[in-house]
Amino acid sequence: MTTLDTIKKASRGDRPTEPLIFEKHVDHATGVDLPPLDVEETGIDTDLCGGGINLPSFGQHDVMRHYTHLSDRNFSVDGNFYPLGSCTMKHNPRINEWGAALPGFACLHPLQDDDTIQGALRLLYETRTMLQEIAGLHEVSLQPAAGAHGEFTALKVIKAYFADHGQPERTVVLTADTAHGTNPASCTMCGATVEKVLTSEGQTDLDHLQEKIEKVGADRIAAFMITNPSTAGIFDAKIVEIAEIIHAAGAKLYLDGANMNALLGRVRPGEFGADAMHYNTHKTFSTPHGGGGPGSGPIAVTEELAPYLPVPQVMMADDGSFFLDRDRPKSIGKVRSFICQFGVLVRCWTYISACGPRGLRNVADTAVLNANYIAAQLLDLYAMPYFDPNNGKFCAHEFVTVPQMLLDKGVTLIDIAKRMIDYGVHPPTMHWPIHDCLMVEPTETESKAALDGFIDVMRQIAIEIESEIDLVKQSPLESDIARADEVAAARTPVLTFK
Ligand SMILES: Cc1ncc(COP(=O)(O)O)c(C=O)c1O
Repeated sequence: MTTLDTIKKASRGDRPTEPLIFEKHVDHATGVDLPPLDVEETGIDTDLCGGGINLPSFGQHDVMRHYTHLSDRNFSVDGNFYPLGSCTMKHNPRINEWGAALPGFACLHPLQDDDTIQGALRLLYETRTMLQEIAGLHEVSLQPAAGAHGEFTALKVIKAYFADHGQPERTVVLTADTAHGTNPASCTMCGATVEKVLTSEGQTDLDHLQEKIEKVGADRIAAFMITNPSTAGIFDAKIVEIAEIIHAAGAKLYLDGANMNALLGRVRPGEFGADAMHYNTHKTFSTPHGGGGPGSGPIAVTEELAPYLPVPQVMMADDGSFFLDRDRPKSIGKVRSFICQFGVLVRCWTYISACGPRGLRNVADTAVLNANYIAAQLLDLYAMPYFDPNNGKFCAHEFVTVPQMLLDKGVTLIDIAKRMIDYGVHPPTMHWPIHDCLMVEPTETESKAALDGFIDVMRQIAIEIESEIDLVKQSPLESDIARADEVAAARTPVLTFK
């Protein structure tokens, strides 16, 4: 059996439509036997009850089956190759889940006194110091709940720093034209004005950066937000020069660290000039994520920005005990309820501790090697604007292809993406950072066999476009849902059963 046959076999095949749980309702069925009431029964004020919420009822086994069938239809990194560029859909080691589920962690109450949660505080303190070390920066705040929230928090910190240093007029933030949408959104939420800097071949256009600084006025710029490796999957080798230009303007360099899995143990952002950065720990240090969560976006900053970090900060006292410090007069305050996304950070601690320094370096090396391997195997069929190994142009942990040669044969990018579903592959990120592109991130946790399987799929689709174009245009043929009207689904969602 060829690799392709194996993939075909593993794809999901025909399945009957699953009724909604409401449609399966069984009158008077019950899923649990509650113990007899051991307190006096008290009526509830009917005014508070409303009209009831009309939940369906079932036996326990039926409800288990219903949700198991549904989860079976879900596309997940546990089931299939999921090269969703920039999202880092990699394997989540099960030891992380074990750690996060330990009752001593999972059952904590966020309002417990510090002296009753010493183990949890120690874990947070160690996570913070490990993230500081990896960033090469002075201090980390674990508070932000996701990458975007980290961007917002760091920009607030930078704003507070400039306000405190008599430069409140620094209200402009520069972002790359390939920036993730959250970068400009975070700026706007902080009341900053966004100015775009052009990129060329996936790297910052230094002339344009200089022009922007002159046009805007150096004394009005708060920061330049850069993603490195960029969203085009390219390491911006001029990063030190960029940092010098930004610092000469008196502004701060902010690193969007969503792509840290390409740098771990090889490059420390503080050493190339970053003043602040966020991690997406749910990506880089693994947590099952997607569909909006859960995430965690700790930020790391230089010593001069540290006083403005959110409170509370987890600290170690002289006697080796741990406490939450709320007494930081220059702090921007709290940016979320309680301390942090604790469960995600337990996974982060576990991942970093399990890998160790050498393992983390191996993560980065393998993430980069895997992306380059696939890119090199597909280059003849899938044109890559920034990848040209014969001329020393390699990618980092992901690559971008604009398969113009295939598109010219009469298919659209969505046709190619949908056909991938038939072969059990999650379509990559599309049309970002450039139009008509696929952004492929295989991650470091895929085996060579899985990478080869993906290469076979992509080559097979190219053959089908040549010989059976209708098949590609009608795909997906093997999924539960064919082509959904994605615009209607996003703009006019129907969120209720009736
Ligand atoms: C480059 C980049 N920056 C920022 C973010 C935002 O991170 P989050 O989704 O955790 O808010 C992402 C998320 O995909 C990203 O890819």
